[in-house]
Amino acid sequence: MRVLSVVGARPQFIKAAPVQRALAALGHEVMQIHTGQHYDDNMSGVFYRELGIPEPDLHLGVGSGSHAQQTAAMIERLEPAIREARPDCVVIYGDTNSTLAAAVVAAKLVVPVAHVEAGLRSFNRAMPEEQNRVVADHLSGILFCPTETAVRNLAAEGITAGVHLSGDVMAEAHAEAATRAQVESTVLDRLQLSEQGYVLATVHRAENTNDPARLKRILETFNTLGEPVVFPMHPRTRQAVEGIGWVPSPQVMVIEPQGYLDMVRLETSARVVLTDSGGVQKEAYWLGVPCVTLRDETEWVETLADGRNLLAGSDAQKIVAGVRAAGPTTARVQPPEGELPSRRMAAVITEKPWI
Ligand code: UD1
Ligand code: UDP
Repeated sequence: MRVLSVVGARPQFIKAAPVQRALAALGHEVMQIHTGQHYDDNMSGVFYRELGIPEPDLHLGVGSGSHAQQTAAMIERLEPAIREARPDCVVIYGDTNSTLAAAVVAAKLVVPVAHVEAGLRSFNRAMPEEQNRVVADHLSGILFCPTETAVRNLAAEGITAGVHLSGDVMAEAHAEAATRAQVESTVLDRLQLSEQGYVLATVHRAENTNDPARLKRILETFNTLGEPVVFPMHPRTRQAVEGIGWVPSPQVMVIEPQGYLDMVRLETSARVVLTDSGGVQKEAYWLGVPCVTLRDETEWVETLADGRNLLAGSDAQKIVAGVRAAGPTTARVQPPEGELPSRRMAAVITEKPWI
């Protein structure tokens, strides 16, 4: 069977790595198309090298643009590419514009679509990711849900066929990276950081970066925390910061986006994580590191249990209170026993359930 994996943005490389590996292990021909949504080496190439992902068979070179421009360019370039590749199944990941474009093109070419990380909902339709998820889920014939909540969300929208509670492939990728990072990453030494001696922060969501007042409020709050803040800055945020005139305090260390192993190492030893990232919230939760989320809602409601993750939005008082009140790192969350999510997904795709 020929399976086509379509990726384009940072978290998709991480999710695709185990899925493509599991498919290849079953003897399938695995092709990959990279849309080019992320293109800087530290947003794309580093993940291929660290995770041993084979080079894409085709790079569409779409690059950045407005939602319509970017998505339209992907759709236009994906159509002939998928036609020519003639895959038996197209695998898409998460909720980016690359996910949306591949879902639309494959569905219109009547190629079965398998969506990894299906069923997540923030119930905020102003979020570009929510728009992408809803369309991708409704166009997919195979829906790999990471959580029971995701299965329920799909059922509430009338989607019950093709739904598989497969577990979270990111948990699998992260667990592997966390073990490797302990040995392979030297980031703590390079940045002269001590165990539990800093807050790790990431900000990139449109709801925070497109609103200058909100972004400034969040970043000024970083300056007031009174402890070291390590802040790998997403290129989108770097651009937005230029417009708001924010100057980091001496305790805020703005660094380039990190490779996966260094990022996971930074997460593991942080006292607290401050983030608006979906992936980073989950990773903090799995590591038992307290998290304060810079959003008003989350799709990963499981992380809110036991106060491990606190929703603070852009409210300076809530952010500061959350960081100050954060307790010690708790035990790691162990993944459920049994078959790995990537292998379950590969097995389902192999069964050709769409025929
Ligand atoms: C995208 C996803 C978001 C995901 C994030 C992961 C959409 C709508 N959003 O957001 O869901 O959480 O990826 O990181 O798909 N840029 C560079 N170099 C790069 C990539 C981007 O400089 O390699 C800059 C460009 O100025 C670009 C901006 O970052 O306009 C935003 O990039 P884009 O891919 O459009 O959205 P993200 O914010 O990365
Ligand atoms: N990540 C990384 N380097 C960074 C920031 C994030 O490797 O500098 C990883 C992070 O550990 C997680 C994934 O990228 O696995 C999350 O991606 P991002 O925050 O860009 O997107 P989201 O998960 O919000 O869609």
